[in-house]
Amino acid sequence: MLIQAFIVLLIQPVAVFIRDSKHLRKFPAPSYAGLSSLWRIIKNLQYEHYLAVHEAHKRLGTHIRIAPNHISVSDPQAMTDIYGHGANFLKDAWYDGGAGEFRHMADSRVKAEHQAKRKMLAHVFAQKTIAGLEPVITDTVSVLVAQVEKFTAEGRPINMRRYLNYFTIDVFSRLLYSESLGCLERGNDIVDAETPEGKIYQVPFIKSLHDATIINTILGMEAPLLPLTRKIFSWHPYKKAGADYDNIVYHNTAKRLRNLDAEDDIFSKLLINNKGEPVGLELGEILAEASVMMNAGTDTTTAALTNTIYLLYKHPKILARLREELDAATGTTAIPAWESISQLPFLRACVEESLRVRPASSMGLPRVVPKGGRMIAGQFVDEDVTVSVPTYTLLHDSDAFENPDEFNPDRWVTGDKEKMSKAHLPFSTGPRACIGRNIAYFEQLLVIAALVKSYDFEFETPNFQLRTIERFNSNPDELVLKCRKRVVV
Ligand code: HEM
Repeated sequence: MLIQAFIVLLIQPVAVFIRDSKHLRKFPAPSYAGLSSLWRIIKNLQYEHYLAVHEAHKRLGTHIRIAPNHISVSDPQAMTDIYGHGANFLKDAWYDGGAGEFRHMADSRVKAEHQAKRKMLAHVFAQKTIAGLEPVITDTVSVLVAQVEKFTAEGRPINMRRYLNYFTIDVFSRLLYSESLGCLERGNDIVDAETPEGKIYQVPFIKSLHDATIINTILGMEAPLLPLTRKIFSWHPYKKAGADYDNIVYHNTAKRLRNLDAEDDIFSKLLINNKGEPVGLELGEILAEASVMMNAGTDTTTAALTNTIYLLYKHPKILARLREELDAATGTTAIPAWESISQLPFLRACVEESLRVRPASSMGLPRVVPKGGRMIAGQFVDEDVTVSVPTYTLLHDSDAFENPDEFNPDRWVTGDKEKMSKAHLPFSTGPRACIGRNIAYFEQLLVIAALVKSYDFEFETPNFQLRTIERFNSNPDELVLKCRKRVVV
């Protein structure tokens, strides 16, 4: 095994680089990235892979080599070329890093398998079905607001990043399992986990998910070595965190399977299809789908919510304009109904601009060039090369967005939306684009409206900057805010 590792890590990269059978030497690379995946791995360990790639594109151009067999393309045209319907680029072996014995919708790499999984749940996430989720979401918004109210009354600062994460966990556990994990009410994310042997214990939800994500992201960057690295790192606490996260999902799934009185939740769609027939999934497949939903359904939306609150309270003029719109549309209602806010242009603009400036998912999503090779944004790339579009760089494209680093929601009201929409793809595009985006908007609009209407938040220091910790998703760091009831003059 060690000899295999030595060959793969040292000898093979040099040989591959010199032979250059896939004609990749023509693409410039930052530092030694063309020779070894270590360049990316180290950037990821520093939690800022997206920034390193962004800086490299600024210096080296639109097509760069970020690993021996990986070309990053920072041109909006590449979104259609790589991810678009009909492009037929499959997901790269990087997705094996976090995959278990059973694949779920997000990590299945076989087209037919993915299509079957997506078809099974597509109707659940359609816009018209989402409206039916309003009671669960508004109810959970009320619990969040009650907690903020408590911190306000007691004069204590609130860690908004955590409370927003408790919110998304509670919402999604209710949507999926008909039962909230109760994080908001408890004020913590310590939840039950259960081993397949039936041992029940308690673990922190957020840390388990985050630690598992780091190690899976990094090991996936050298996917051919996975059989070896999985064994080498099996002792690592982050691998144990992955097992804890799986056991949280196992516990709630086992509980839900015993609950025959459950409501018409997402879980029920994994058991019975919309024609009323049994879906016939194995337990492992059910667990895999539940696992990706509790992950993708909570972590990204938390990032988006936290970033929006941060950006709005950093920009008082924008906050004032948003409040004007909200007050006019919702009067004195503390927790606005979906109907009264769903079409507000400036609220939507603030959410859109936050997703753009501080995306929840920043890293390029790796795909494999199909047989015969393809033209990607004007340059030919050989077959079997991994390619991606760096999402952060795409969302900061200076041709599409004037002053791209500036938080300026007004661009979504008065700007050239057609031009911007070609680069504004925070949920990706094509057959593997985010299935949960409608729910994500639903949660964002309702939470932001409710918090902005009723509370003044203040940063702990005037120059506070919210750090991004990129594991796979771009997670915002802790956001501690002093809270006061808003005084309407
Ligand atoms: C602001 C919030 C969100 C953002 C920015 C976001 C972003 C993304 C992106 C960029 C992808 C493509 C990933 C890839 O190609 O590897 C994706 C896929 C996915 N997302 Fe989201 N997401 C969000 C919320 C949600 C929610 C609420 C759910 C609820 C279940 C969800 C479920 C999924 C699933 C299952 C996939 C895989 C889809 C497939 O491969 O067919 N996401 N998301």
